[in-house]
Amino acid sequence: MPTSCFRGPQDMNKPTNPDAPLSPEDPDSWETATKLIRGGLHRTPYGETAEAMFLTQSFVYGSAGEADARFSGEQPGFVYSRYANPTTRMFEERLALLEGAEACRTTASGMAAVATALIGLVKAGDHIVAGRAMFGSCRWIIAQLLGRFGVESTFVDGADLKAWEAAVRPNTRLFFLESPANPLLEVADIAGVAALARKAGGRLVVDNVFATPLFQKPLQLGADVVVYSATKHIDGQGRVLGGAILGDAQLLDEAYRDFLRHTGPALSPFNAWVLLKGLETLDLRVRRQSDTAAALADRIADHPKCSRVFYPLRPDHPQYEIARRQMSGGGSLIAFDLGDRASAWRFLDALEIVDISNNLGDAKTMATHPSTTTHRSMSEGDRLTIGLTDGCVRLSVGLEGMEDLWRDLGRALDAA
Ligand SMILES: Cc1ncc(COP(=O)(O)O)c(C=O)c1O
Repeated sequence: MPTSCFRGPQDMNKPTNPDAPLSPEDPDSWETATKLIRGGLHRTPYGETAEAMFLTQSFVYGSAGEADARFSGEQPGFVYSRYANPTTRMFEERLALLEGAEACRTTASGMAAVATALIGLVKAGDHIVAGRAMFGSCRWIIAQLLGRFGVESTFVDGADLKAWEAAVRPNTRLFFLESPANPLLEVADIAGVAALARKAGGRLVVDNVFATPLFQKPLQLGADVVVYSATKHIDGQGRVLGGAILGDAQLLDEAYRDFLRHTGPALSPFNAWVLLKGLETLDLRVRRQSDTAAALADRIADHPKCSRVFYPLRPDHPQYEIARRQMSGGGSLIAFDLGDRASAWRFLDALEIVDISNNLGDAKTMATHPSTTTHRSMSEGDRLTIGLTDGCVRLSVGLEGMEDLWRDLGRALDAA
C-alpha cells in the first residue's frame, strides 16, 4: 500500500463543529490553520499587522502600590521577562490552542523544556520508567543528572507495554517516552503507557517532537505533559532554539512555576516572535514534508542497497498498528539501514544538495549518521538494544522538490 496519502483513522485537526458560526471568542472551535495564524494574537493600540515584539527585560509601574499589587498577583500584568513576557505569552497561547492544552510554558531550548518537565515532577527516592530509545541528552538527564539527586530510573523497550508494566515499582512517579523515537522512529503505545501511569499514581511526559502537534495529540491519549523542542518543526527554518511544556494549568503551575521563575530557562521574546511566525506556516510545511517523506520512504525501501526502512505509517513498521491508531500523519523523518558504517558514510558523502547535519524538522533536507553524532554518547551495546547499527542513517525531509530530492538520494544510494 502506498503510504503517501494515508491520513490515519481520523484527522485530529478538524474543527469540532464545522456548522457553528465562527466566533472570535471561541478559538478552540477554529480550524488548525486558523489557530496557527490568529491564536493568541493580542494587538497593541497601534493596530500592527504582525505580532508585536516586546524586547524588554522588565516593566514599570505607575506607583509603589501598583508594583505591590502586580507582585502579589492582585493586579494582572507583567513584572519581569524571566517570569513572562507579552510576545512569549502570545506564542504560549497559540501553541496551547494548537495542542488542545489548558496551558503552555516556554523555555530557551527543547532540552530546557525536557529538563524542567522531568525535574518538576520528581524528588529524591522516586523512580522513573522511560522508553530506552530517546535523544541522548534526555537519557543523560534521567540517568546521570537525576541519578545524582537520588532519583532511580529504569529504561525499557518502549514498544513493549508489558516491559513498562514490569518495571513499575511502588515508588514509580514518572513515565517518559518519545514517540516516534529518535532516531529509528520506534512507536510507543501512548494510551497504554498513560493507563499504566494512572494506575501507578504517576505522571506521563511525552516528547512529541517527531510527530509534531499536527499529527499526534498525547494529551488526548492520556498523557499529563507534552514537551517540544520548538527548534525543530515549529521554527523549521534553522534560525532559533526554543522549547515548550504543555498540559493542565494547575499541574503546570504546581510543578513548574517556581522552578521556571527561580532558575530562569526563559525563552527570549525575540525567539518567541520568530517561533510565532514559524507556527503560521507549520501546517503547510509539515504536511508537505510528511507527504514527501512518505513517498521517499517507499522509494528508499525499494532500493537494493537498503536493508530496512523505518517510517511509522509504512505497513512494515514494527508498530504500524499503534502508529495508525495514534497518528494522523507519518511525519518528516525516515531512518534506513545501509548495512555498515562505510556504506552509510559513502551515502552521506555522495549527497549533492541534501545537507549532512544533526538537526531535523527544517525546510532543508538533512541526513545524519546517528551512531557517530546524535547518539554517540550511548554505548555500542545500548545502541544495539534499540537496533541502531552503524549502517543506519536518519533523514529529515524538507521542502525541496520531491524529484530533485530523489535524484540526489537515489544517486547517493547507488554510491553507498
Ligand atoms: C526528540 C528530541 N527532543 C528534544 C531535543 C532537544 O531540543 P533542543 O535542541 O531544542 O534543545 C531534540 C533535539 O535536539 C530531539 O530530537
